[in-house]
Amino acid sequence: MNTVPTRTTPVDVDDLRTRVTRMYRDVALHPERDYHFETGRALAERLGYAADELDAIPAASIDSFAGVGYHLDLADLATGECVLDLGSGSGMDSLLAARHVGSAGSVVGIDMTDEQLDKSRRLAAEAGLAQVEFRRGYVEDPPVPDASIDVVISNGVVNLSADKGAVFAHVVRVLRPGGRLALSDIVTERALPESVTCNAGLWAACIGGAMQSDAYQEAIERAGLEIDVVRRNDGYRFLSDQAVNATTTWGVMSISLLARRPG
Ligand SMILES: C[S@@+](CC[C@H](N)C(=O)[O-])C[C@H]1O[C@@H](n2cnc3c(N)ncnc32)[C@H](O)[C@@H]1O
Repeated sequence: MNTVPTRTTPVDVDDLRTRVTRMYRDVALHPERDYHFETGRALAERLGYAADELDAIPAASIDSFAGVGYHLDLADLATGECVLDLGSGSGMDSLLAARHVGSAGSVVGIDMTDEQLDKSRRLAAEAGLAQVEFRRGYVEDPPVPDASIDVVISNGVVNLSADKGAVFAHVVRVLRPGGRLALSDIVTERALPESVTCNAGLWAACIGGAMQSDAYQEAIERAGLEIDVVRRNDGYRFLSDQAVNATTTWGVMSISLLARRPG
């Protein structure tokens, strides 16, 4: 596997994972609380999710939605396809994907936060979607066989990883030739200074780990994917003053992207 170095890691990886896990445990258990970022149905609809699509899955999966964009249109899922959702959270995108691929297809959601996994598994059972399963794991080394996936999706997660090169290398490893990557993520117009990238709290808030947009796309291409579409999600915004200040100063923004593993 071709591992692509994207940046030296300025934060302690264990500390980062502990903080990220703590934050998204809270999002799973207490979606009504205030965070640096927005959560829930109003956000999902503003980003482009159709109301009738959301009405078809359990409301609790939407309450704790913490994604940053809409890319299921880019993913263009077909009946029978196999989907991997990196950082599946409470499962909203996985459940929607499961409805698109139907009982002939399959969806595997990967997450490292037990409370998110418990919630997503409970909601998938409630929705009667037997074609979706959730596995505990890291997006830097997803427990999925080589060349077994048609489409990798991910929403608001890669920015949280201290090793984005490993994430993209594994995307290429698990995709079948011709397979697609459709994701939404936080990137920046200008490279962030160390005062921000060394702040594990700002990483957990989806800001400190954001890569400069061109470097992010280069990392995807160096891993072996061809990018077809990149679009900016102007409907996404941060909430806390600290996060909003970072957004203005460094051009922190949400993008959605479609890329392909050459066939
Ligand atoms: C911003 S939330 C997004 C969740 C979901 N995709 C959504 O749209 O609601 C990030 C999720 O990624 C998970 N996560 C973050 N870093 C991870 C890593 N390195 N490996 C596995 N899961 C990770 C967190 O536990 C959390 O559930």
